[in-house]
Amino acid sequence: MERETRQKIIEDLASCPSAHAVCFDALRLAEKHNGWVSDDSIREVAELLDMTPEEVDAAATFYNHIYRKPVGRHVILVCESVSCWIVGGQTMMDFLKDHLGIQFGETTSDEKFTLLPIQCLGACDCGPAMMVDDDLYGDLDAEKVKQILECYD
Ligand code: FES
Repeated sequence: MERETRQKIIEDLASCPSAHAVCFDALRLAEKHNGWVSDDSIREVAELLDMTPEEVDAAATFYNHIYRKPVGRHVILVCESVSCWIVGGQTMMDFLKDHLGIQFGETTSDEKFTLLPIQCLGACDCGPAMMVDDDLYGDLDAEKVKQILECYD
């Protein structure tokens, strides 16, 4: 990790009563540089927080926004829960896979998008829903999805 990232984690830890409480933020900081968290970064975060690498890895696995493998420049999280499914979620998922030419867990050949499923994005009243990076989109159909994806470089 970069020196600045390590310093920020140390500062966060100093202002927080528990290493576990800053673990997610530390992982997000570690992820920022490469877009994912390597085993080396897990070990570094663990060392800084005085946790075991296994504890930090378990936290990283728990959170949807921490990626443990390389991902594309943008990550698409698609809700596959029932509230979205009954209002056309499956059609939207099929369109996304077809349009991008990838399956869940894969990245497009130009490394632009990684497509991942998720259980509920908290937007059940406006499904089908998806997130691209930190942006939440609802009431999706094929045409809307196409327009949204064109906005990302
Ligand atoms: Fe899809 Fe909640 S069920 S956002």
